[in-house]
Amino acid sequence: MQVVAVDGPSGAGKSTVARRLAERLGWRYVDTGAMYRSVGLAADRLGIALDDDPALDALCRRLRIGLEPDGAGGLRVLLDGEDVTGAIRQHRVSELASRVSARKPVRDAMGRFQRTLGEARPSVLEGRDIGTVIFPDALLKVFLTASDEERARRRADELRRRGEPVSFDAVLRDIRDRDRADSSRDHAPLKAAPDAVRLDTTGLTVDQVVERIAGWVAERLEHQG
Ligand code: DC
Repeated sequence: MQVVAVDGPSGAGKSTVARRLAERLGWRYVDTGAMYRSVGLAADRLGIALDDDPALDALCRRLRIGLEPDGAGGLRVLLDGEDVTGAIRQHRVSELASRVSARKPVRDAMGRFQRTLGEARPSVLEGRDIGTVIFPDALLKVFLTASDEERARRRADELRRRGEPVSFDAVLRDIRDRDRADSSRDHAPLKAAPDAVRLDTTGLTVDQVVERIAGWVAERLEHQG
């Protein structure tokens, strides 16, 4: 399977690294967190309780989530045709996403969508369970980590750049809470696949991380023949 799985906790650098890696390989970049964020946003807007599995199941079956290249290496996220790229990045949507991502019907629906995308074209998929659940036979599985403080600093910087002023301490607390929720849920908890390559990005530049992963991809492709 021509898939690179990039998993890890939030703020480990997955998005930037996965996007740049996909660009470099000429592969499709799939941000699976954006899918859960879109479902969380849609459920919230419709007043669906975030643990109402039948309603979430129905929502996921009819929702059309689009991930399109934005022409600048990133993705434009469309929810039933509406551009929600900015809306899903709001701090409060992270919490909505974390809660709906714990629900089985949501994971099943997004998993089907992710497999369809990855099977159609060589892809770099970024998420939490890509190497463990979605593509256990991925060409390469990378589990990115970084210290809690570094992850909180990156996340706070990102939110401030988007014009959302946040305190470092609040972000650090949220990151730890969300990690705990993502790692301890029953369905597809955040964990490294046994055969994933672990990479701690603390103190590394994006270029260094992309370089290293691209090297591993080249080795695997060569090995594959
Ligand atoms: O990567 P992110 O912060 O955009 O992800 C948002 C939420 O979705 C986060 O709480 C983890 C969850 N998620 C998941 O459970 N599985 C994925 N493959 C991707 C994200």
